[in-house]
Amino acid sequence: MEWSRRILFSVMCLGFVSCFSALATNVSYDGRAIKINGERRVFLSGSIHYPRSTEEMWPELIRKAKEGGLDTIETYVFWNIHEPIRRQYDFTGNKDIIRFLKTVQDAGLYAVLRIGPYVCAEWNYGGFPVWLHNMPGIELRTMNTVYTNEMQNFTTLIVDMVKKEKLFASQGGPVIIAQIENEYGNMISNYGDAGKQYLNWCANMAESLNIGVPWIMCQQSDAPPPMINTCNGWYCDDFTPTNPNTPKMWTENWTGWFKNWGGKDPHRTAEDLSYSVARFFQTGGTFQNYYMYHGGTNFGRVAGGPYITTTYDYDAPLDEFGNLNQPKWGHLKELHLLLKSMEKVLTYGDVNTIVFGNSVNATVYNTSETSSCFIGNANQTSDATITFQGTQYTIPAWSVSILPDCKKEVYNTAKVNVQTSIMVKKPNGAEDEPSSLSWEWRPEDVRDTTLQGKGTFAVNQLLEQKQATNDATDYLWYMTTVNIDKQDPIFGLDTTLKVNTTGHVLHAFVNGKHVGSQWAKIGGSNFVFEQKVKVNSGKNLIVLLSATVGLKNYGPFFDTAPTGILGAVELVAKIQNDETIIKNLSSYKWTYKVGLNGEERQLYDVQSHKKWYTEDLPINRMMTWYKTSFKAPLGTEPVVVDLQGLGKGHAWVNGQSIGRYWPSFLADEDGCSIDSQCDYRGPYSDSKCVTNCGKPSQRYYHVPRSFLHDDENTLVLFDEIGGNPSFINFKTITVGSACGNVHEGKTLELSCQGGRTISEIRFASFGDAQGTCGAFEKGTCEASIALSVIKQACVGKESCTIDASEANLGSSNCGSGITKRLAVEAIC
Ligand code: GAL
Repeated sequence: MEWSRRILFSVMCLGFVSCFSALATNVSYDGRAIKINGERRVFLSGSIHYPRSTEEMWPELIRKAKEGGLDTIETYVFWNIHEPIRRQYDFTGNKDIIRFLKTVQDAGLYAVLRIGPYVCAEWNYGGFPVWLHNMPGIELRTMNTVYTNEMQNFTTLIVDMVKKEKLFASQGGPVIIAQIENEYGNMISNYGDAGKQYLNWCANMAESLNIGVPWIMCQQSDAPPPMINTCNGWYCDDFTPTNPNTPKMWTENWTGWFKNWGGKDPHRTAEDLSYSVARFFQTGGTFQNYYMYHGGTNFGRVAGGPYITTTYDYDAPLDEFGNLNQPKWGHLKELHLLLKSMEKVLTYGDVNTIVFGNSVNATVYNTSETSSCFIGNANQTSDATITFQGTQYTIPAWSVSILPDCKKEVYNTAKVNVQTSIMVKKPNGAEDEPSSLSWEWRPEDVRDTTLQGKGTFAVNQLLEQKQATNDATDYLWYMTTVNIDKQDPIFGLDTTLKVNTTGHVLHAFVNGKHVGSQWAKIGGSNFVFEQKVKVNSGKNLIVLLSATVGLKNYGPFFDTAPTGILGAVELVAKIQNDETIIKNLSSYKWTYKVGLNGEERQLYDVQSHKKWYTEDLPINRMMTWYKTSFKAPLGTEPVVVDLQGLGKGHAWVNGQSIGRYWPSFLADEDGCSIDSQCDYRGPYSDSKCVTNCGKPSQRYYHVPRSFLHDDENTLVLFDEIGGNPSFINFKTITVGSACGNVHEGKTLELSCQGGRTISEIRFASFGDAQGTCGAFEKGTCEASIALSVIKQACVGKESCTIDASEANLGSSNCGSGITKRLAVEAIC
């Protein structure tokens, strides 16, 4: 290569792994760590599921993950979106897994590919295509050849695609690890010997694919070698691999939790999450992945269930829309940089632990060149003051201090020194956008069809819903006719329609009239609907609409859990003395219709030229389609639509699904802690530190920027239970206040978002201010010029950096006994 070209090549390649893609990377492991080209490494990884965002969002999400100190991106592969119909594949748009992996590669990061292909993941049916369920003789997740053939077929297809693009590290690509199955160890005992055989089959099948990088199985203590068993959970410091020749790996550190319809908003504090990570590395862990680093959105009908919401925010370090979730993102970033700086000693050093009692331990990692130390305090209430190697340290309860040179504490998990952002929703702001949208509507066409009992096929039995619909839609109509003549024992008596259903939602109609609706509570699906109905002499038409809200994704034999109306369906008439006559309709002739007419006619499609009405906009009318046009909010910040006022249904923007909605489903009134009372100390669980009690479990729905046009856009809604679209509006999400509350000696960085600047410093005090972001109050002492210094440094800027020191902020009137902090609230 001549010189000029050679220089050009090196300039272009700076920082890009892809330029070196021809060079194979050797990935191996020992009892201590995963090794890259023979060198033990520390891995800080984060899960981003490619179909839970858009392909346009991927580069930015991955860039923010890298900037947050991650070196690896982990994703599942979602079988049911790729093979929706047997042997018909789809890898377009945000299903383009290869493009996703290449985006990871272009950012210079590694990838962990969790093929599953059972994935759990709060994903519809755990990722299995529902047609599998309907294959004769099949049994899922066990030794059954109908199933294993399909699993092998799909796994091989994915492996071949990745190989073809040379994306395995062994080929010079980013994929350093692959996973087969998912947490089968939690289920195996339910499957007996066949389960054990299946486990071995999975391992052999995976191995036979020759990917040249290690395979893992999570939560599988008996993983057959060379499969590596890994840990999932909120904490994995106590995890020890059964096989001493495999490293201590954590595939899912749950950064928060998922949400259900009717559920509250889960929050896991930055202090507790960083504590779990620091403890894991203190106790010898070397690979750690955040589940989720970006949770994202369940577009379409991909949410699992029953009852997983459309948002899959997860309280992850990047929020649903891709914004930095601060202080979580920044507090972890500091930890990541520190752990990376200690990589050599963590993976090669000798390890000694000193026990101080009362759950306080120090761990010293030591090589001939350097030593690094962790001091952990697992006590849930008492701070510890200990003397370690001649120096006194105070370690707050439920925290870990890291001393990279074993002398100076550089990081403590409970001391957050980065920005806290309060996110706000701003009005649309697009030019000429009216304050309220104008609506058109159409009834779902039921009067002359299903409410007349007209369907497409009939059988003398109640059908399981997945079997009847193949899950092509949420909806299945069950219709039957009951003749009641004058001789019928129930004639003239008070009659109740009783429907036993396995869920999830039921709407009942008798003789063309809606008689009631009912749905399962969170956590369950079966219920019995009972409603007094008026039956006529002669023909009576019973029409039941059953709707699923995400198919089950977890549990032993979850795939066989029935959905829909399995019966009995009965007319129950009361005679005297509480005696009843029961007319069981279960084996009557039932006529079926799969899905809605509007779905069939694609009313959500912008091109659909069906007639829409502008007059008499109905409110609280069930089974109604609504349509409006709107202008996209200006700027680049994430867009949401506020669906407050609606009932339950599905929404589309410019023909693309933004998911199911159900803002009328309120979260429980009880169990919310007021922010300031959320104590990070003690083990986290999904019921701890929740918010949003008594409010719609999801009110705002993500409209990805790439779904929007610059000019007019169309929003189509189908409301199943009835609502009022008049309050619907579009908003952008951005940082409203940027706050900090940092210790003396630290540096606070504040920044707005989307090119906006800091307009005002609402509060600043370098002293002993009290309170939290949005509600700071002055304490007993402070440095008098702090406010003016900070205004000078920050106002009018997109971001600013402030040293929390007297040198920068002036001397204070605080006594020597006071530990000073810098508290700031800046308005963006
Ligand atoms: C794990 C599972 C993940 C996800 C998680 C909860 O058990 O492996 O896929 O479902 O739970 O968010």
